[in-house]
Amino acid sequence: MRTRNLIVRGSAWGAALALAIAAAWVPGRAPLAQESGHGYGSDWESWKAGNSVADLASLQRGARDFLNYCNGCHSLQFMRYSRVGQDLKIPPKLLAEYLVPSTRKPADYITSPMPAADAESWFGKQPPDLSLIAQDRGVDYLYQYLTTFYVDPSRATGANNLALATTAMPDVLSELEGLKRAVFRNEQVAGATQPVFDHFETIVPGSLTREQYASFVRDIVNFLDYVGEPNQDHRRALGVWVVLFLLVFTWLTWLLKKEYWKDVH
Ligand code: HEC
Repeated sequence: MRTRNLIVRGSAWGAALALAIAAAWVPGRAPLAQESGHGYGSDWESWKAGNSVADLASLQRGARDFLNYCNGCHSLQFMRYSRVGQDLKIPPKLLAEYLVPSTRKPADYITSPMPAADAESWFGKQPPDLSLIAQDRGVDYLYQYLTTFYVDPSRATGANNLALATTAMPDVLSELEGLKRAVFRNEQVAGATQPVFDHFETIVPGSLTREQYASFVRDIVNFLDYVGEPNQDHRRALGVWVVLFLLVFTWLTWLLKKEYWKDVH
């Protein structure tokens, strides 16, 4: 009876602990990029992706949008379509119908159809494979990169970027985001006058609002975060159980010790 009580009490305690740990593990959602009062974009360096690889719907949207908007130039050479389908719980029929190009098979790696030589001559450099870009640069950088394109007629692509100055990538999402101009102010830097970015001004609005565009970018960044380490969500979930098991096990061992030593004293 006493043991049974202990087990009942123990499992209630364990459940409470599990809840507490699970609550602490829910990844924080960063607020939408705020305007700082100095004009839109003046605080771009502090913009956060605020993505969560536990958000399956966001990953599914990110996969769809990546394949639509980015895969024409960028590959994910370590990832197969079928793996994306499995991990993101996309039914094989929908995967084959909407996400796998007609010339490819689900088991193929997500390469890009763009011939390397063409890429080289069009952009002056090859669009990099993005399998590990989220690991390499971090999700906040990716978010900032995709939200700070601006019109720059002096560039061959007509666009420039705050996160990667003189980027060779065209502003491929401008239809969604709209076109914006970067306003610079002159500042004395180390004795010389230099243009310093001040804020963005919208020239042509896009088909999405600023918030919709932010969440569109967040989904793609989320997908790239998942691609960089497809097991991360599973690994975290497993980690919680391992810690819980160790705690419960320690507690049982302590109870056993008490039980054994009871008669000795
Ligand atoms: C028309 C071709 C093209 C498309 C479409 C395209 N990119 Fe690019 N991308 C490039 C090129 C070219 C570069 C190399 C830029 C450089 O190094 O200056 C690049 C570079 C990048 C980089 C690396 C930036 C860095 O810091 O090195 C990221 C991240 C990226 N692209 C993300 C995306 C995403 C996400 C999409 C889809 C929304 C996309 N790209 C669509 C051509 C493209």
